[in-house]
Amino acid sequence: MGKQATKKVCVTGGAGYLGSSLVKKLLDNGYSVHATLRNLEDKTKVGLLKSLPGADSKLVLFQADIYNPDEFKHAIEGCEFVFHVATPQQTSATTQTSQEIIEGAISGVRSIAESCIQSPSVKRLIYTASVMAASPVTTDCGKLNFESNVNESCWTPLDITSSHGLEYMMTYTISKTLAEKEALRYNDNPNCKLEVVSLPCGLVGGETLLSHVPLSVQVMFSSLIGNSATFKGFQLMEEILGSVPIIHIEDVCDTHIFCIEKPSMRGRFICAAASPTIREVATYFRQNYPQYEISEEFMGEEKKAISCDNSKLVKMGFEYKYNMKNILDDSVNCGRRLGAVFINE
Ligand SMILES: NC(=O)c1ccc[n+]([C@@H]2O[C@H](COP(=O)([O-])OP(=O)(O)OC[C@H]3O[C@@H](n4cnc5c(N)ncnc54)[C@H](OP(=O)(O)O)[C@@H]3O)[C@@H](O)[C@H]2O)c1
Repeated sequence: MGKQATKKVCVTGGAGYLGSSLVKKLLDNGYSVHATLRNLEDKTKVGLLKSLPGADSKLVLFQADIYNPDEFKHAIEGCEFVFHVATPQQTSATTQTSQEIIEGAISGVRSIAESCIQSPSVKRLIYTASVMAASPVTTDCGKLNFESNVNESCWTPLDITSSHGLEYMMTYTISKTLAEKEALRYNDNPNCKLEVVSLPCGLVGGETLLSHVPLSVQVMFSSLIGNSATFKGFQLMEEILGSVPIIHIEDVCDTHIFCIEKPSMRGRFICAAASPTIREVATYFRQNYPQYEISEEFMGEEKKAISCDNSKLVKMGFEYKYNMKNILDDSVNCGRRLGAVFINE
């Protein structure tokens, strides 16, 4: 613990999949945490966070909604580092239009960055971005061409369309692209002392603290169980990125913490441990889980993967601990434990 024991950090969206694991790891590492969630009356979410080891003395919860972004101010005050993990999304419960979600994501980032600037204790803002914002495609008469690998210079074109429908995923992609650009814009102002780091993460798999299987973990094993609804998410990623960049939840949390342990750091850093094609994932499942019969429609096309260049963070000294096998196996185990993948021995 040592010096870190005195550091106070804020996590927006602390009760989500990534947020709850990050809060746990921060507490385990001795940090004091201000976590936000939308509803402090939600007993399940509050109960989960309050039950984490160290929460009694080191965790304070705040209520804040991205559609009222000033609410984050109180949680940010007095912190040295702010992780902006929360993102507005389209779900069955959302009343916002696509445009409102996109605008909400951007104004949420802006307002959180402004609160960071106004709070003299805040050194750095770490934005949890998505690799969906880093597509290397160019569009030519509606056809997608891959110009390079996925790397930090790639920005998903805003006119991108998908043959897989999934309007909510396209809204998500555009909102993540514009919100990340908005966050990084603060680094362009030489008079602004706030450092901004954005971490475009691949699809996240592995275990969860939540009592349900997170959507990204469901997408990860979608071909194994033949779920065409979640498999579409996989197909969309491959269509837009040329492969499916993936990362383990433990590595995601470690990349985030790595970014606050550097004395100084700013900029964009891709976070993905592997970038297989759908076919490579399905082939792994066929070889290692022969009790499940994966039908051809879930096998994906035979093609060369567009690689995802993760070297920028590695050159800074970050080491990935989980490879494709660990990510896929831990996702399947999570699904089995929570009853979403039936044990079919
Ligand atoms: N999972 C992945 O594969 C993946 C990959 C790349 C990037 N990311 C990014 O990681 C972050 C977390 O995603 P996740 O997978 O952990 O999803 P998740 O479990 O659905 O969490 C979403 C979080 O956003 C919060 N949220 C949603 N609408 C909000 C609003 N209007 N105001 C305030 N908070 C709101 C939720 O808060 P409540 O708990 O209060 O509802 C929740 O904490 C997102 O920024 C996402 O883009 C995820």
